[in-house]
Amino acid sequence: MAGWPRNDLSELLGVEHPIIQAPMASAATPALAAAVSNAGGLGSLGCAPFTPEKFAEQVGALRADTNRAFNVNFFVHDEPVADSEAETAMRQRLAPYYAELELGEAPAARSVFPIFGAEMLAAVTALKPPVVSFHFGLPEHATIETLKASGAVILASATTVREAVALEQGGVDAVIAQGYEAGGHRATFLGDVESGTVGTFALVPQVADAVSVPVIAAGAVADGRGIAAAFALGASGVQIGTAFLACPETEMHPVHRELLLQARGETTQVTRTISGRPARAIVNRYITEMNESGAEPLAFPLQYSLSGPLNAASRKRDSSDLMVMWAGQAAALARPLPAGELLTKLADEAQAVIAAM
Ligand SMILES: Cc1cc2nc3c(=O)[nH]c(=O)nc-3n(C[C@H](O)[C@H](O)[C@H](O)COP(=O)(O)O)c2cc1C
Repeated sequence: MAGWPRNDLSELLGVEHPIIQAPMASAATPALAAAVSNAGGLGSLGCAPFTPEKFAEQVGALRADTNRAFNVNFFVHDEPVADSEAETAMRQRLAPYYAELELGEAPAARSVFPIFGAEMLAAVTALKPPVVSFHFGLPEHATIETLKASGAVILASATTVREAVALEQGGVDAVIAQGYEAGGHRATFLGDVESGTVGTFALVPQVADAVSVPVIAAGAVADGRGIAAAFALGASGVQIGTAFLACPETEMHPVHRELLLQARGETTQVTRTISGRPARAIVNRYITEMNESGAEPLAFPLQYSLSGPLNAASRKRDSSDLMVMWAGQAAALARPLPAGELLTKLADEAQAVIAAM
C-alpha cells in the first residue's frame, strides 16, 4: 500500500489513518468511538447534550475500551432568547402531533443543550481527552488556551472560508471544512445562519488555500473514492458521520437505519424545523408538514425541546413520521459493518484509489 499523501494531520492527532468518525450527539456511542480508535482512526463522542457527570461516565466507558486517541465534541451556542408569543404559536402548531401521540400538552420550551461553560471546562481539563472539537464556532480565547495547556488538540468546523480563517485566528490546530452535503447540524456561526451552503467540492480547496493549519473535509465522504477526492482537493484528512451511522455500535432506531440505507441525495433536506438551526435530515412527514405550514421555528435549541418528545414517542411506536433522522446526501453509500471493519475498509480503499491515481 502506498500510504497517505500527507501526514500532518495523523501526526497531530496521533492516529494511523487520518479518518475521524464524526462526533454525533445522540448517535455516537463509546463503543463506536472505541472501535474506530482501535482500528487506527479517531473515534469521537458528541457531548453537546451531556452534563459534566454524564461526560465523565462516557469518557470512562470509552477509555475502558481503548487506550488510543479520541475526540470529544461540544456545541458553542448562546443562551436562547425566549419569545413567549412565538412559543405559544409553535406549541399550538405542534399540538395536533402531541394529541396524535397521546403526549398531552406541548411542554414549555427550554434549552436542551447546556452552554459550554466553566463547569464543563473543568470536567474536560480533569479528564484530558487528547482531542476536543467544537461546532457553531469557538468558546472564548482563554478557554482555548486552557484546553491547549491541558494537552488537547483543538478542532472546529467551518462552512465558509471566512469561518475557516476565523477559526485559525482563534487558535484551532486544524479546520474541519463542512460542506452542505453533510448530515446533521450546519456548523455555520458567522453571518446569517442560513449562509453556509457551500458544497464540499467547492469549500475544501478554498479553505486549504486560505489557512495554514491542516484541513479536514466533511460532508458526503463515505468511501475510499470520497477520501481520495478530499486529498486531491487539498485536505489532510476527513471527518465522516453518515457512513458510520449504519454501524451496529450506533444508537440508531432500526427504522432510521433502514431509511438511511435506502436514502438518496434528494431524500435528505436541510431544515430548521427540528432544532431551530439548519441541519440535514431524511425528509419525513414532520419536515414536509412543517415546511408547508410556514411556521417559524423557535431559536436553537428551544425548537428541539418541543420536537424532541415527538421524536421519542415516534421511536417507541417504530414510526418514521415524526422521528428525527439526521443523514447526509451520501447516505446510500453507508455500509452496515462493524465500525472497526468499516474504518479499515475505508483506509484500504482510499489508499488503493490514491495509489491508482
Ligand atoms: C447523526 C449526526 C449527528 C451529528 N452530530 C454532530 C455533533 O454532535 N457535533 C458535530 O460537530 N457534528 C455533528 N454532526 C456533523 C458531523 O460532524 C459532520 O459534519 C457530518 O457528519 C459530515 O457529513 P456526512 O454526514 O456526510 O459524513 C452530526 C452528523 C450526523 C449525521
